Amino acid sequence: MTTIAAKHGVYAQSEPFLCETDDPLLTKTPLAHKNPSVPDGHSSRGRNSPPNVAANNEWAPLRSVIIGRADNSCFPYEAPHMIEATMPARFHEAFKPANPFPPEIVRGAEEELENFALLLQSQGVNVFRPTKVDWLQTFGYTGAMPRDGLLVVGNTIIESCFAWKCRVDEMANSLGTLLSKLGADPSVKVVRAPRPPSPDTLYNGILEDPGSHEWAINNSRPAFDAADFMRFGSTIIGQLSNVTNMKGVEYIQHHVPSGYKIELLDVNDPHAMHIDATLLPLRQGLMVYNPLRVTEESLRRHAVFKAWELVSYPFVESVQTVEEATGGVPRFMTSAWLVMNVLVLGHDKIVVEEQDHEFAKWLEGRGMVVLKAPFRNVHAIGGSFHCASVDLVRS
Ligand code: ARG
Repeated sequence: MTTIAAKHGVYAQSEPFLCETDDPLLTKTPLAHKNPSVPDGHSSRGRNSPPNVAANNEWAPLRSVIIGRADNSCFPYEAPHMIEATMPARFHEAFKPANPFPPEIVRGAEEELENFALLLQSQGVNVFRPTKVDWLQTFGYTGAMPRDGLLVVGNTIIESCFAWKCRVDEMANSLGTLLSKLGADPSVKVVRAPRPPSPDTLYNGILEDPGSHEWAINNSRPAFDAADFMRFGSTIIGQLSNVTNMKGVEYIQHHVPSGYKIELLDVNDPHAMHIDATLLPLRQGLMVYNPLRVTEESLRRHAVFKAWELVSYPFVESVQTVEEATGGVPRFMTSAWLVMNVLVLGHDKIVVEEQDHEFAKWLEGRGMVVLKAPFRNVHAIGGSFHCASVDLVRS
């Protein structure tokens, strides 16, 4: 089967999927779950091989994942009104062209990501890593936050139509090779993002009169970051934000496999950008939510949560006082709510930052098995375990 729909940037080729052992994208693969009849590194995609892409929630056992790379990360450069809308005020000055993150932070983040990748491999998860990119040369931002750039729904990977200009080539540069390989599997659909118009129209009307708009972008072309969406089976819960507009939502709805429906959550956050520090499903039927951004009532409006237990994050006070206490590493790009940006591995296992003792203890009290890992330097670059990963297979 070959689908080419250039208008929407869809492509899928018909060659069988092959993982080569010398593929730099594939780090050491323990693959505890892998079909033993398939020799390591040579998936023949037979009728019984595990799928390459299949995920429709955030909590089923994780089998295959992309873990980001921090090398050469630079502060993103965007229009001032966008930085003001989305980034912590005390760091606004850092968001200028060709400004690398401090080298010790990038080094620390790279170690933390490598450690995270090894931790997941030790849990039997197949791990892919992005290509190293010189983000200074390409005027880009980072390879550490792949969650923002790829939305996996069922067998379909949808590349974000980024609002931020500095991110438009991020997936092509860091994950283009992997996306081509995955797209070569006839059972996988990869939807590459179309180029934004040049000049881009997203800020038209806003730059002239910034105060008069709810968000930092208009609705003149599809724009979204994948991290503004979360899968709950056939319902995908999303939010409009400073990087996601209604045309972006319609674009995703058009490309998801049939049977999936996007519903927009009412979120109270003028700085909104990425929903994964607002909602945290732990398992089927149990979700933690950020009470400063959503209400239980707004969640209950979505039929999918009818039978769910919805728990307000229990330590609001300490999140707020902990804002500055990041172990000396500044959070340049996010709030302290990154405490909720954790990764569920399935079977009630969860990866939590090693210093988030209070939340870890609470999770254990709810029957979760907590694996701790250091991630403070990755936080500085823009996200935690959820942001730094993309689930390819959960089953
Ligand atoms: N904007 C959120 C906050 O500051 C952080 C979300 C990070 N998520 C991500 N996918 N990069 O609380």
